[in-house]
Amino acid sequence: MAFFETKRLTKAFGGLVAVSDLSFTVEQGEIFGLIGPNGSGKTTVFNLINGYYPITSGGIFFEDNKLNGLPTWKICKLGIGRTFQIVKPLRRMTVLENVIASAFNVTSHMAEAR
Ligand SMILES: Nc1ncnc2c1ncn2[C@@H]1O[C@H](COP(=O)(O)OP(=O)(O)OP(=O)(O)O)[C@@H](O)[C@H]1O
Ligand SMILES: [Mg+2]
Repeated sequence: MAFFETKRLTKAFGGLVAVSDLSFTVEQGEIFGLIGPNGSGKTTVFNLINGYYPITSGGIFFEDNKLNGLPTWKICKLGIGRTFQIVKPLRRMTVLENVIASAFNVTSHMAEAR
């Protein structure tokens, strides 16, 4: 099994199919990019990998784990992080606090996270 793999990944928003039958593999240490025009489904793919959107069909696999259906926090604990196109996903916090928030994945101590 590949380090990371999507198999026939599909996401439909009602009648709009944003991602259709997308299969790719990424090996450990590889730098892999998604490229495509505006609205071609790149961010949707990241939102599927993250568990932010439920998958319509297909599968996502990381090491020995199937990610389909797992909550975002479990996917994060398995070692999959992400960044956002917007710099402040947590709106009521400062940019620094937004960055610090991600460190609570590996510590529960504010000083250490900071
Ligand atoms: N939550 C949603 N509900 C309905 N349609 C959506 C939703 N999210 C994305 N879409 C639609 O899915 C398609 C893919 O959008 P997506 O944001 O994934 O594209 P993108 O490749 O990241 O675009 P960009 O280069 O502009 O960032 C678009 O037609 C978009 O309008
Ligand atoms: Mg995008």
